[in-house]
Amino acid sequence: MLCALPDETVNTLDLLREYESRNITYVDPAGEWPIVWERAQGVHVWDDQGRKYLDLTAAFGVAAAGHANPKVVKAGQDQLAKLCHAMGDVHPHRLKAQLARELSRCTYERWTGTNTGKTIFCNSGFEAVEAALKTALLATGESGVIAFEGAYHGLGYGALSATHRGMFREPFKKQLKRFGHWVPFPDSKTAVRLMRDQVTRLFGEKKIGAVLIEPIQGRGGIRVADHGAIRWLSQICKKNRALLICDEIYTGFGRSGRWFACEHARVTPDVVCLGKALTGGFPLSACVGDAHCMDKAWPQANGEAIHTSTFLGHPVGCAMALENLKEIARRKLPARAEAMGKFLLAELNKLSAPVGYRLKACGYGLMVGLELTRGEEPASDECVRIMKNMLKRGFVILPEGDAGNVIGFIPPLTISQPQLKSAVRALAEELSLLRGDL
Ligand SMILES: Cc1ncc(COP(=O)(O)O)c(C=O)c1O
Repeated sequence: MLCALPDETVNTLDLLREYESRNITYVDPAGEWPIVWERAQGVHVWDDQGRKYLDLTAAFGVAAAGHANPKVVKAGQDQLAKLCHAMGDVHPHRLKAQLARELSRCTYERWTGTNTGKTIFCNSGFEAVEAALKTALLATGESGVIAFEGAYHGLGYGALSATHRGMFREPFKKQLKRFGHWVPFPDSKTAVRLMRDQVTRLFGEKKIGAVLIEPIQGRGGIRVADHGAIRWLSQICKKNRALLICDEIYTGFGRSGRWFACEHARVTPDVVCLGKALTGGFPLSACVGDAHCMDKAWPQANGEAIHTSTFLGHPVGCAMALENLKEIARRKLPARAEAMGKFLLAELNKLSAPVGYRLKACGYGLMVGLELTRGEEPASDECVRIMKNMLKRGFVILPEGDAGNVIGFIPPLTISQPQLKSAVRALAEELSLLRGDL
């Protein structure tokens, strides 16, 4: 017989251990990780013990306009009470159309002054990437995709074929189709040169329909692509009739100090993938493409869409996104991210590396990473220890990068200078403790 257990008497992590599949929530045997989130507001999170934390992750970059932004929450609540589900590709609701128009306005209309954008709504980020990959195949007839070392595009079977890190693909490779080709991520002079050689060769040898790039790699370790290299990629795509797809799922909506990170390079991609900060907390993502390109790719439907899903363009997500976009614009969050990011980088650059270690701060806007190396080696274990200790001090912070040795600063864009300073001060103290390790 099913019975409701009184929540407060059951330990959440014990329940997860027993009833959630393995390999999802990591529960540290020593009890130092994770905390159980109870509520969040603005830049803060409270755990189930009532402890307060400064969130330097924006919960994977989602809470750009602050956790539980009152206007966004109200929009979601009102919509939930009115219409909490419509029919994806059959009987639509008004907000889906309005959000598609807003996404066109903040992307292609801003970028070109003439063209509009057309949207395919999806639920999570990887689906937006997969919609973009399908668009490229339909538009060009070619299946090959050039992606980049360190790339993270999500873990669905389509996106996984472009995600680089072996640990995600290896266990599933028997079911994966090989259409991704990885080339060096162009974040240094040498890498740009190697990347250009390899991309040129791939276009000569393979049937390439798309180049898929994060203008700033997030999970890859906050690595910024050279702007000239992105422009070169745009040109070589045009020359070869391939699509340039920018994955802005992490960087979008002000995170990098611009509405979208491709704007730093003054490049207009054929398709852009959006998610995370779009709604501020509801699983809704979007593949937005230049209308000409989208119309070339996607045929008119005759009653049955060839790409859709049950929850496509969810009304609650659309209501939240519309309000969230207004908040980002009204509070000028991209400009705020730029200013705060400069301040943060300057503070991080003042840190002195512990003896035997090296520190390197890098990033744009409020997408900043502090890389920690011991000699030439990534100081991964030290980073894990720092994360756990920062949590004890009241800061939620995550490592990025393949080796997990980049301390990521991805806070809500509403964070203040004193709050950033307090985080850097705590981090400095943690770093100073590493001295005794050698
Ligand atoms: C650049 C990028 N693309 C795609 C994804 C996948 O998004 P999701 O986890 O919502 O599927 C992520 C997630 O971190 C991401 O950072």
